[in-house]
Amino acid sequence: MLKKQLFIGGEWIEGSNFKELTSPYSGETIAVIPFASEEDVDKAIKAAVGVKKTLKKMPAFQRAEILENVVKLIEENREACARIIAEEAAKPIQTARGEVARTIMTYKFASEEARRLPNEMINMDAAPGGEGRVAYAVREPAGVVAAITPFNFPMNLVAHKLGPAFAAGNPVILKPASQTPLSSYFVAELFDKAGLPKGALNVLTGRGSVVGEALVTDPRINVVTFTGSPEVGIEIKRKAGLKKVTLELGSNSAVIIDQGVSLDDIVDRLVLGAFAYQGQVCISLQRIFVHESRKKELVEKMTAKVQELVLGHPLDETTDLSALISPLDRKRVMEWIKEAVGSGATVAVGGKSKDNMVEPTILVDVDPSANVSCKEVFGPVVMVNSFSNWQQAIEMVNDSEFGLQAGVYTKDISKAFMASEELEVGGVMINDIPTFRVDHMPYGGVKNSGSGREGIKYAIEEMTEMKLVSFKK
Ligand code: SIN
Repeated sequence: MLKKQLFIGGEWIEGSNFKELTSPYSGETIAVIPFASEEDVDKAIKAAVGVKKTLKKMPAFQRAEILENVVKLIEENREACARIIAEEAAKPIQTARGEVARTIMTYKFASEEARRLPNEMINMDAAPGGEGRVAYAVREPAGVVAAITPFNFPMNLVAHKLGPAFAAGNPVILKPASQTPLSSYFVAELFDKAGLPKGALNVLTGRGSVVGEALVTDPRINVVTFTGSPEVGIEIKRKAGLKKVTLELGSNSAVIIDQGVSLDDIVDRLVLGAFAYQGQVCISLQRIFVHESRKKELVEKMTAKVQELVLGHPLDETTDLSALISPLDRKRVMEWIKEAVGSGATVAVGGKSKDNMVEPTILVDVDPSANVSCKEVFGPVVMVNSFSNWQQAIEMVNDSEFGLQAGVYTKDISKAFMASEELEVGGVMINDIPTFRVDHMPYGGVKNSGSGREGIKYAIEEMTEMKLVSFKK
């Protein structure tokens, strides 16, 4: 049995309490995970505070080299990384390999950004009284970063916290999701080999009510960066006081499909956006609004594609969809499908569950107040509703408490501009699904989808403080 230890101050430390980690697919025990106590959190914070100065003084080229070393180490361990993700998260192995490739890119971008932190000259004489001064603004590391990460991208969303933090010269205390700690422990080993100073990365597994709570409220923590549910994100913001807080929360992402669009050209993207990793992605395609003249054709084409998808073991090369992250989530998703059908929706395909898997499901004509429309499903369910005019389609997308990303398919440039201006989201993908991200682009949401931006350069802004230095001649 793989018994894990906490990683504090560069040492592997025995926890006092343990919990068995089971596979979401088979229910078999895959590891034993330590639960950090309040004392462990305190030790980790002390270790991080202790290394703050060393990191702040470390030249940019050295921070960049550590990140480059990690890139090499992940490249050498690609398949091992993918298998860890597949096993702990039930992510189909092909999709897990894609996540590893993205993780490598994320750390590459971080190593590049470490060399070009955005320091700037200020033209002081632009205002009366500013003459005779030379001034610049430098980006200084903000201090100890608490990173709280979700289960759905256990390597790449960790990289989106560690990469910019180390690029900027900050130590980190990482609390990975309880279901997917193995990726984080593996990455900690790689950073240790890569030459990261001891204490710069600490990995604490355990309860949110102990570890998360202590990190969010402790005055020695300077930045909290969280990806997860809106409920937890809102609590964090409430408790964090004056700490810098970045929140990447959920969504019920939508796409609008205009009348003249070739459905054959886009159907594969729609199916991928809705069902990749069982729909457990913050920008999963959950709501499709198609022009009323094309709804029937779209549903038929999507249904045919969905019927080809293979459900099964995450390590099987042919698997497209595997288990949901927990039996509770499977139960909730099934209840929401039932509720939508009860309020008038029809099931075009799917709608059933087997073991811990839910069939990829298309619901048609869903009442906007049903949970599958207005909440974040985080499961393999997509709805198809229709619109009669463009303004109405935009309003349907905006009728949401969330606003992460939206997709728009149209051949009409003025409609594309109108959508890009009026959609209340953090990112608009013209002629694509909302489920699009490359790792250097600004990524984040408005409304209950969060605040602040990721994408290495933008995350560095969130993890640094600007200091003005003015020289009087
Ligand atoms: C997320 O689910 O929060 C991130 C999606 C992505 O990185 O593709």
